[in-house]
Amino acid sequence: MAKKSLYMCTECGQDYIGWFGRCTNCGAWDTIAEVPDSKENKKKQAAKGSWLPFDDSGQSTKPLKLNELEADLQDRLLTGIDELDQVLGQGFVRGSLVLLGGDPGIGKSTLALQALGSFAEDETLYISGEESAEQIRLRAERLGLAGKAIRLLTVTDFAAIEESLRSLRPQIAVIDSIQTVYSAELSAAPGSLSQIREVTMGLLRIAKELAITLILTGHVTKEGTVAGPRVLEHMVDVVLYFEGEKDTSVRLLRAVKNRFGATDELGVFEMTDKGLISVSETSALLSSGRPRHTAGSVVTSTIEGSRPLLLEIQALTVASPYGTPIRMTQGIDRSRLSLLLAVMAKSIRVDLSQFDTYVNVTGGIRIAETAADLAIMSAILSTFREEPLHLDAIVLGEVGLTGEVRPVSQMAKRIEAGSRVGWQSFVLPAAGREQMKLYENTQKSDVKLFYVSNVQEAFDLLFSGEK
Ligand code: TYD
Ligand code: MG
Repeated sequence: MAKKSLYMCTECGQDYIGWFGRCTNCGAWDTIAEVPDSKENKKKQAAKGSWLPFDDSGQSTKPLKLNELEADLQDRLLTGIDELDQVLGQGFVRGSLVLLGGDPGIGKSTLALQALGSFAEDETLYISGEESAEQIRLRAERLGLAGKAIRLLTVTDFAAIEESLRSLRPQIAVIDSIQTVYSAELSAAPGSLSQIREVTMGLLRIAKELAITLILTGHVTKEGTVAGPRVLEHMVDVVLYFEGEKDTSVRLLRAVKNRFGATDELGVFEMTDKGLISVSETSALLSSGRPRHTAGSVVTSTIEGSRPLLLEIQALTVASPYGTPIRMTQGIDRSRLSLLLAVMAKSIRVDLSQFDTYVNVTGGIRIAETAADLAIMSAILSTFREEPLHLDAIVLGEVGLTGEVRPVSQMAKRIEAGSRVGWQSFVLPAAGREQMKLYENTQKSDVKLFYVSNVQEAFDLLFSGEK
């Protein structure tokens, strides 16, 4: 059989088995080129899309026995930054490739530098293609790391990066950012998909071969992914996303992929003038500063990963000057808001079809679970009636179409998060009472639980009814 050559679009990285004039994937003309098929293993590997050692002899590789392998994936590198270690599941795994994504300016470089700061100087290497050495020194100064001899390289050429990783042999290295690294062997521009794909593949090979933990930072595109399609996410071992609103100091670190741990973990940090600080007691942080006894503000407790978070939900309703009222949300699904408004119209006869309605979750967090339904409805009713909650309570419960309040998971955990920071009253779904038996037996004396089975009952309790 004739040997097949591989072709690839130099713009988007799409593979072809032959030459075409136009890439069917990205639509670019005359970008499909033969992938260099030289004697060098390295290029073969890149073309084959694999980082595995290539067997030149053509013989099949001898199988290994699973029980005889050393489990050196257990070899963990703890950073001492609590929230980071927890999200990773006990620190970085040796030889793993970690992608740290996030909007520009969110704090990726800061977190990466801080992570390096906790290791011995000759174990680390910081490679930057984005900032000058002077800028990085200034950042290190803010972080109190200026006295540390962290090795620094400002290069973007893949060959140079490979060479320095081989000669310096760090345990852990940062490449800031993956979008700036390019391989001179490809004609595509730095930051283009084919460059990022090739370079990441090369870095993956180096990480596995030399057992170096590599942290790649990456900017997120408008679509919310690093470098367009999810090519990078597939290749790396761990994908962490750094989120938060720039005008608040809260930063959330989320593992969306983790070959060595749980993916639903969430780390919470606060950006201070001396860098990022782990916030382990988040309950207070995200709902503190809440104006008490103000209409339109209700606190609920959501579960993010394995951690409960107290969040404030704010709502605002104003008479709509237009025919079609505005429905605007931040942190919750807009169609969920429409549904809750429909339930309100039907079950308690509060019709907001002539009112613009806005709902915000403070702290820049997105609530994905329905456990906040009752709290959202309470906040809306509170602003609509211009009446603060009569009962200062944390509100939990999913709301069904007929206005029934449905149970939520892990109620005891959510309540404990609130009671630890001084909340005493909790409005809960009666249907979830079963799971509360154990908690009720051990509950603190100052904690009061109120069970409701539908929204009417909840609102009778939360509002004084004097209006
Ligand atoms: P940076 O790590 O440069 O973000 P990224 O690499 O994701 O683009 O952080 C940028 C922001 O963080 C910048 O606006 C300044 C702020 N910052 C602090 O508030 N405190 C600090 O100690 C540091 C180093 C940065
Ligand atoms: Mg940066």
